[in-house]
Amino acid sequence: MRILITGGLGFLGSHLADVLFNQDHDITIVDNKTSNVVEESYFEDRGVKVHTVSIEEFEPPHDFERIYHCASIVGPAAVISYTTFLGYNISQTSFRVIEMAEKMQARLLFVSTSEVYGGGGVFKEDDAKIIDGKVSARLEYSVGKLLGEIMALDKVRVSELHVNILRPFNIVGPRQSSKGGFVLPRFVEAALQGKEITVFGDGTQVRAFTHVAEMVKAMVQIMESSFRGEVFNAGSPQNVIQIGELAKKVKVMARSQSPIVCVDPKTVYGQLYEQTNDRIPNTGKIEKMLGWKAVCSIEKIIQDTIDYCLASQSKSLAASSKQLVSSS
Ligand SMILES: NC(=O)c1ccc[n+]([C@@H]2O[C@H](COP(=O)([O-])OP(=O)(O)OC[C@H]3O[C@@H](n4cnc5c(N)ncnc54)[C@H](O)[C@@H]3O)[C@@H](O)[C@H]2O)c1
Repeated sequence: MRILITGGLGFLGSHLADVLFNQDHDITIVDNKTSNVVEESYFEDRGVKVHTVSIEEFEPPHDFERIYHCASIVGPAAVISYTTFLGYNISQTSFRVIEMAEKMQARLLFVSTSEVYGGGGVFKEDDAKIIDGKVSARLEYSVGKLLGEIMALDKVRVSELHVNILRPFNIVGPRQSSKGGFVLPRFVEAALQGKEITVFGDGTQVRAFTHVAEMVKAMVQIMESSFRGEVFNAGSPQNVIQIGELAKKVKVMARSQSPIVCVDPKTVYGQLYEQTNDRIPNTGKIEKMLGWKAVCSIEKIIQDTIDYCLASQSKSLAASSKQLVSSS
């Protein structure tokens, strides 16, 4: 099948592209490299077509049968530098992929976020979306995503568009970058480098982490199901953990001597930084309708992330010693 992945050089999109490529699909990626975690050569060497432009400027070379919309400005710290543009860009790119999918009669999977729920708690798909009274970049991100969802679902009511919505809760695993402010790669990198592991606030905030490989399975299952116009939560309610506890686990598993310190995130990312609320997924709908259930433990997720970071470190060490030898 001809498949388009927007944001295919990013964390989630690149894992999805790997899986679909291995299933012999004809993959095209569009990614403007604002926060990519792999380079185009990673895919181009295997014959995957990569367009390094924004979705807004992308000229499709042909029609596609499936479009996975993963591209977005994302990350608790990253969103801050895009305020104002953020909301505009999320709705603009959402409109573009909806338009493309409708025109091509392609199925669309719209990757949204659990942040649309706003407040803290355990959430199921038809719960009210609570829009915080406090203005922040994070609010702009979640309202932008919610608007994208509504645009897509409204289109289902007036056209033949085949779209479903995925609301992931805290995806983690190999290749995730610490740059956007994501917590697990931050902790693992600090632990492996013997630097301070900085926990934001008092560390009692909770998250429910899901392995990226399991999230990719959910995406493909939703896309290939006969459901249309549905919204699915995907996450790991069994992996709920306090962030302070996560830091301790990472330290032990990485055999690190790093001190764990609690800091105010605003001293790291500036006054515009806002912590997210504690959100836990109710995954009853996806379990019942698709038989999908995440089973990967938090320990396995941490171990995979440590192994990936160690492998990347030895690769870059090998590359710099090769460079030293050739320049001497
Ligand atoms: N990581 C999580 O925990 C999480 C949780 C919920 C939802 N999501 C959603 O999952 C999707 C993927 O997130 P990720 O963690 O892989 O982030 P990521 O930053 O690793 O990947 C996003 C990719 O999109 C690209 N991109 C951004 N704007 C673009 C544009 N206008 N045109 C083309 N490419 C563009 C970036 O360069 C990047 O490669 C996003 O839509 C995000 O909102 C992620």
